[in-house]
Amino acid sequence: MLTTEHNELLARVGPGTPMGEMLREYWVPACRSAKLEADGAPERVRLFGENFVAFRATDGRVGFIGEGCPHRCASMALARNEGNGLRCIFHGWKVSVDGKCVDAPTEPEERRAAFAEKVPVRAHPAHEAGGIVWVYLGKQKTPPRFPDFEFTHLPLSHVNPTKGKLHANWLQGFEALLDSAHVSYLHSRTQRSQRSTNREIKYIFENGAPSFEFIEQPYGFREGAIRDQTDGNAYARIREVVMPWWSFIPSAPGVGVVCCSIPIDDEWTSQWYVAFNAHEPLATGRNAMFGTDSGDPDDFTSDMGDVTTMWHQDREAMKEGHWSGIVGRTNAYEDFIVQESMGPIVDRSQEHLGQADLVIVRARRMLIDAVRNFEKTGEAPFIKGVDFAKIRALAIMYPQGQDWKKFDAFNPPSLAAE
Ligand code: FES
Ligand SMILES: [Fe+2]
Repeated sequence: MLTTEHNELLARVGPGTPMGEMLREYWVPACRSAKLEADGAPERVRLFGENFVAFRATDGRVGFIGEGCPHRCASMALARNEGNGLRCIFHGWKVSVDGKCVDAPTEPEERRAAFAEKVPVRAHPAHEAGGIVWVYLGKQKTPPRFPDFEFTHLPLSHVNPTKGKLHANWLQGFEALLDSAHVSYLHSRTQRSQRSTNREIKYIFENGAPSFEFIEQPYGFREGAIRDQTDGNAYARIREVVMPWWSFIPSAPGVGVVCCSIPIDDEWTSQWYVAFNAHEPLATGRNAMFGTDSGDPDDFTSDMGDVTTMWHQDREAMKEGHWSGIVGRTNAYEDFIVQESMGPIVDRSQEHLGQADLVIVRARRMLIDAVRNFEKTGEAPFIKGVDFAKIRALAIMYPQGQDWKKFDAFNPPSLAAE
């Protein structure tokens, strides 16, 4: 459990809040690159309780500016996108892709240019990688080092970023991404159906109380969820937790899903699922692990329902043996629904934690320490000395007695369990 004070410290991300200020010091996934067409419609993006507009200019560069026009705050999402900038439809003022006011046609001709030059524009650095537009919203003159994860180096045919919108605080989303124990329960429907054929899934199902071990890392930690089996083997799901919001889901080496939990505001979250294959193009272009049932890669659980419909839970199916009653959907729906069911900002003073929650406790403690330290020093941790491209998750079966801490996900041992 947490005190109310710590709960608030972790959850609140608006301008001026300690956590909000710290999180702004990281590169943030803002929208999919594919959403932006040169001279096409600008995209509204809400992050940390503030509204922005992303757009692709005539020459292909991406601009990222505050949503309100610098004149009288009309939405620049309505603007004309032309000549490497956005021109507000209200009075025609123009903001260039590099974030300068370059025209104010309502001013007298002789001072129009000089006037425009003096108008401040809120603009932020943007960077494209892995099919995602990333932005830096922090206060430093020079943005931090870009987290060039393995998937950001792959051709776009090998990567598929999708996101879902969650009516819950960002930390609820992040904690769900760190919770290895729930897989044996919440998602047991899929496990049951595949149990006879897939040994890894059988292993998860047959040991619902994994033990957790950790290796400290400069970016956060590596977590092993170890499930010993009665047949003499063990199954390790080795997750990489890259603070402040990344979770690398354990999988075969170089294939799988990397997730993050990005605050839209205090009560809404963008949960990103970046599917990738380091070895070959993705077969279907879809998120193989979690699916994108609704067909909308920018809000793939948009038809999930809410508390007023109890998220379409099917009680009849449950009577017939379906565990969660979330029928005909992928795991992500089940994850999102339980997170939303806690309320927009869960009251963590009411929790009762056990050994399965060790990962979550650890992450909370790191975030509290980080934000307290950031308040004193202004320095965002988890970046210094990190080789982001060399971070990989791993799921592996092996004979008991081997030490999972020695496994290298880029060069995994051939310890095929028999
Ligand atoms: S509000 Fe945008 S030009 Fe006037
Ligand atoms: Fe899950």
